[in-house]
Amino acid sequence: MTRFWKPGTENPRLLDDEEGGVIFYNTSSSSSSGYGHMSMDKQRQRLPVYKYRTAILYLVEKHATTIIVGETGSGKTTQIPQYLKEAGWAEGGRVIACTQPRRLAVQTVASRVAEEMSVKLGEEVGYTIRFEDLTNNDLTRIKFLTDGVLLREMMDDPLLSKYSVIMVDEAHERSLSTYILLGLLKKIQRRRPELRLIIASATIEAKSMASFFNARKRQGQDDEQIEPNKEPAIISVEGRGFNVQIYYVEEPVPDYLRAVVSTVLSIDDLEPMGDVLVFLTGQDDIDAAIQMLTEDSQSNRKKGLIVLPLYSGLPRADQDLVFSPTPRGRRKVVISTNIAETSLTLEGVVYVVDCGFTKQRIYNPMTDIENLVVTSISKASARQRAGRAGRTRPGKCYRLYTEEYFINEMSAYGIPEMQRSNLVPCVIQLKALGVDNILGFDWPSSPSPEALIRALEVLYSLGVLDDDAKLTSPAGFQDPMISKMILASNDFGCSEEAITIAAVLSIQSIWFSSKGVQKEMDEAKLRFAVSEGDHVTFLNVYKGFIESGKSSNWCHKNFLNYQAMRKVHEIRLQLRRIVQRLGITLKSCEGDMKVVRKAVTAGFFANACRLEAFSHNGLYKTIRSSQEVYIHPSSVLFRVNPKWIVFHSIVSTDRQYMRNVISIDPSWLTEAAPHFYQHKQLNPIPH
Ligand code: CDP
Ligand code: MG
Repeated sequence: MTRFWKPGTENPRLLDDEEGGVIFYNTSSSSSSGYGHMSMDKQRQRLPVYKYRTAILYLVEKHATTIIVGETGSGKTTQIPQYLKEAGWAEGGRVIACTQPRRLAVQTVASRVAEEMSVKLGEEVGYTIRFEDLTNNDLTRIKFLTDGVLLREMMDDPLLSKYSVIMVDEAHERSLSTYILLGLLKKIQRRRPELRLIIASATIEAKSMASFFNARKRQGQDDEQIEPNKEPAIISVEGRGFNVQIYYVEEPVPDYLRAVVSTVLSIDDLEPMGDVLVFLTGQDDIDAAIQMLTEDSQSNRKKGLIVLPLYSGLPRADQDLVFSPTPRGRRKVVISTNIAETSLTLEGVVYVVDCGFTKQRIYNPMTDIENLVVTSISKASARQRAGRAGRTRPGKCYRLYTEEYFINEMSAYGIPEMQRSNLVPCVIQLKALGVDNILGFDWPSSPSPEALIRALEVLYSLGVLDDDAKLTSPAGFQDPMISKMILASNDFGCSEEAITIAAVLSIQSIWFSSKGVQKEMDEAKLRFAVSEGDHVTFLNVYKGFIESGKSSNWCHKNFLNYQAMRKVHEIRLQLRRIVQRLGITLKSCEGDMKVVRKAVTAGFFANACRLEAFSHNGLYKTIRSSQEVYIHPSSVLFRVNPKWIVFHSIVSTDRQYMRNVISIDPSWLTEAAPHFYQHKQLNPIPH
């Protein structure tokens, strides 16, 4: 039984759920405001940020860096990029970028902005996340992307020259890639004075961010006359939400999932209309809670509840359901990870249920182990979560922890990601971007020195850094899936094959691309193609290339890109050296392609897909998230459509296409990643 009380109430009225599930002390009556349909323009003008439109544009014009603080839902992410475009920042082929720490936020915000501007997503407004690029080089003027993707773009274009303004959003999250990005953007600013930065945040120590970007003070320049002003501007967007009443449990709850379920059912029983937002820790929790709730509602009268999950990796159609308006007379219950804490705004939420936990990556530099751990949230997070209940009218927040716990046990702010992460990937990234003095890198807040030194040690012993701490070979080992495949190939006795595949995968394409000779190209490909898939085909191509004496003529005849093949050969030699230093035995499996496919599966298990039953057009779904995908026409398995495959990457055009595909046996998945697949359905396809 979950008992809540509201602080400051002495002997409150008791409202008993007739099923005895939850007891609430209720002290107020909620008002419900009519929230009809407004035109898009009206909605935009009603947002708090609208009043500051001119001020923001003025500051961005005059200052190199502008810091914008405003509560979640005030319109920072969706409106500011549009204001910038309206003010001309996207003219002359320039692009306005807005980064987010989370992929799901990138997708939903981009589609919202496209809708507000009445344009097709992927044209004037686009987005890029890993494996999915929905932009158009000629048309896209506003681009949403993860900070990780922007870091990757820096590899090709170190000064990010196509962007006129870069808005780094959700800075309060203090995510590792946001911090790397801020450190690098500060360097870029020195070289590109015309570039404008906006740092947006829900709650920020704006002052410390401002002093980080205060180039004028540090360099002691006297540049009163020079535009833009190097001193960062800070603007706070007023617009408080409505009052939210907080309720705590009287006693600690033994099982927060059960407590969530009974709290939601009681809200539905006792409270006026309004949607419910529940914070849980991750997909497993969320799925379990949904199952409990829907089972419960089938058995009784809860016909009015619409229960929906919200987490990263959720299929598109399910995302849309979460954001579509709740039908009259129904109550939506969205069960979410902390993604709904600040990155996404849900209209219509009046009740929040907060379990008090979140999942965090925690790295221990002493043991070199990184774990996803369920940990207590901070007071700042708890306040953010509660705030979600007061978007459109006064709301209520039910905390599944005691007030004493909140006051005494929760830290004020969480530990920033960079102080609890394995820094190996981050150091590789900085090295690859040419930042040589990692220990002297200018971070907005410092990482733990132990973790940083540990990262350098690991990389050194991997042979990724040489004696001068310079990056030896980023290719091949930058992608963790490829690295995993190479490491696994040691057990399968096929390391020679694995590094050939790794080398080919790190190249855009080995095939010669030119229009008008499609038929000849396809025929050439058939000479190497095998039914196992693209990876094995690559092995045949590479073998032929070596046997031809690395001949450019041979490449030409076979529609292969000679330069690309030379590069493959070069990368392969580098990988061979690294692999030897890692203690992997160089060994060929002499044509046993089953072990090669197993090694590929060991690296790319997360990209497994199953052909849909009764699909006549080659529709696959990813096992992980049921995303709809198709085999790319360039693959040798195009139209072959084996039942089970893993892919290397996705390209999005009209559909999501998988590039570089290999057929597998589903039993290899559980072998390769039992922790990943034990709960997933790997049943054979029904026929
Ligand atoms: O970035 P910030 O938290 O300041 O706000 P925002 O994400 O720009 O959201 C502003 C408003 O846009 C929200 O209050 C929602 O009313 C609306 N919005 C929406 O309806 N659907 C979305 N997918 C995103 C935003
Ligand atoms: Mg936002």
